[in-house]
Amino acid sequence: MVWDSDTFPIPRKGDPLFEKIKWSRLPKHVAIIMDGNGRWAKRRGLFRTAGHTAGVRMLKKILKVAIGLELEALTVYAFSTENWKRPQAEVDFLMKLFAEYLDRETQEMSEDNVRIKFLGRIDELAPSLQNRIRSAEDLMKENSGVRFNVATNYGGKDEIIRAVQKIIESGIDPNSINEHNFDQFLDTSEDPPVDLLIRTSGDKRLSNFLLWQTAYAEFYFANEAFPEFTPEAFVEAIIDFGNRDRRFGGLKNSKGTSKS
Ligand code: FPP
Repeated sequence: MVWDSDTFPIPRKGDPLFEKIKWSRLPKHVAIIMDGNGRWAKRRGLFRTAGHTAGVRMLKKILKVAIGLELEALTVYAFSTENWKRPQAEVDFLMKLFAEYLDRETQEMSEDNVRIKFLGRIDELAPSLQNRIRSAEDLMKENSGVRFNVATNYGGKDEIIRAVQKIIESGIDPNSINEHNFDQFLDTSEDPPVDLLIRTSGDKRLSNFLLWQTAYAEFYFANEAFPEFTPEAFVEAIIDFGNRDRRFGGLKNSKGTSKS
């Protein structure tokens, strides 16, 4: 149920939800394109914005599952650099939703040892939202649990361009840049590459999300709209990942993904 209470306890090892999890084959970094909120709402005769509200509620539960699984990082696509093209009322609603989410959830996320970070051109958001973002990031900066990245006013191409600009500004010898140290200039500089990319609602595209970080990610496309993407559906994606044969361009079992 999407409209039930917001309380969802962190599931832990031994919880029936985790019954089929292969603990040695967990992804470290999961990214989610939370698609289908608008269609979910329309199908119910609701405004598209009701779909975003329902999406946030589900996101809260998914984050609790990520905490229970002890993932290193969970990155979600909340607002792309292209989403400004949406009707102004929807853009305004989403911005208000982000602010309300931070007002309501920051304390609990911090108690859950989550470390939040916003990816993208945050300096172009409304000053009041920027302030909330900075104080939430600040409050959680010493936390050591799941790194929760919220891509807001984010585009993968834009992130790469900003990284190149940072490199040029730093005056680094261009010949010293390689695939490993380029990571340091990205918004996700502290995170491992994405192991598992999930997109809900049936479409099968990357939509300018984490272009560099998903180079060797496994892709999982769920038919459910994001407000229907329950903890059970999320766990199913994690189990599916555990059965993938990742070769990283090499031969079978040439590189593992085990957390242990
Ligand atoms: C895509 O669905 C979803 C978005 C553009 C916004 C996603 C945002 C949330 C779920 C809220 C996240 C909030 C926080 C606080 C992180 P769509 O609107 O494109 O759906 P459609 O494809 O059915 O039209």
